[in-house]
Amino acid sequence: MDTIAPILVTGNLPLSVLENLKREFQVEIHAEDLPMSRSDLLHSIRDKVGLLSMITDDINGEFLDHAPKLIMIANMAVGYNNVDLNAATRRGILVSNTPGVLTDATADLAFSLILGAARRIAEGDRMVREGRFRFWAPFHFLGREVSGKTLGIIGMGRIGKAVARRARGFQMPILYYSRNPLDETVEKELNARYVPLDNLLGESDFISLHIPLSSDTRHFIGNREFSLMKPTAFLINTSRGPVVDEKALLGALQNGLIAGAGIDVYENEPAITPGLEKLDQVLLLPHVGSATLETRTRMAAMAAENLLAGLRGEVPPNLINTEVLR
Ligand code: GLV
Repeated sequence: MDTIAPILVTGNLPLSVLENLKREFQVEIHAEDLPMSRSDLLHSIRDKVGLLSMITDDINGEFLDHAPKLIMIANMAVGYNNVDLNAATRRGILVSNTPGVLTDATADLAFSLILGAARRIAEGDRMVREGRFRFWAPFHFLGREVSGKTLGIIGMGRIGKAVARRARGFQMPILYYSRNPLDETVEKELNARYVPLDNLLGESDFISLHIPLSSDTRHFIGNREFSLMKPTAFLINTSRGPVVDEKALLGALQNGLIAGAGIDVYENEPAITPGLEKLDQVLLLPHVGSATLETRTRMAAMAAENLLAGLRGEVPPNLINTEVLR
């Protein structure tokens, strides 16, 4: 490979990671917080052999049509719903993600949302800041207990399991629903029981989503599912926004079908369904599941490692579309 072959990096990276890339490639980097505009993206990719992409980049067929030289896309995320995998595969383009390194950070955030929504953490903070903390009273500002409550986990992959491990410390029995049920020994270790989806929805006090976004999981949680939940239940979403029908969520909260929610991801980020911001019973975060310094540093290094491997003609360690190699 030509040592000065050009690559595009669409977000800021730690200096050491950038230096590694620059040793072998000519790097164009969009070192800004706001995502690259569509026109800049389509323009910049024309001559590039490699792309280190962010989840805010829509890597669809149109984009790939503008990228005749592209060999490899390293997406800096575990979720890759922003990449049209089939379109990339058809063109023989390698695609990788960053699994594993963000499991604990995301599980920590899901647990923060469980605790934060149940104990009204953000609402209490607003109360104190705004000078509305005026008294203590035995039945004032009550939340809901977390310890000992039933946790329903939808999607028992790496992150789902990490949430289950945290829940053990809170003595929470776990119900789960997943494409691939766990081995019995792992179920025992996690105190988790596989149940049909509707049973999970009807019996859980907290329901946490850990499934990837695909055409099968869009609006996985909608009006029907909310109607099955307990009126005391909380929905937690740290996966992808479109997994939940956000209008149905707003309705469920407004009409008391569920008690509350902890939401990190939205259907049309960065926009949120108007009305959500008015409800104190929903805790809203700006897509920060993997946003710790340690985790983002590891994700950047992992994406770069994949990209370098793919462009050197090696098999990237976290290649998703392995059929490209056949
Ligand atoms: C972040 O959202 C990720 O998928 O890594």
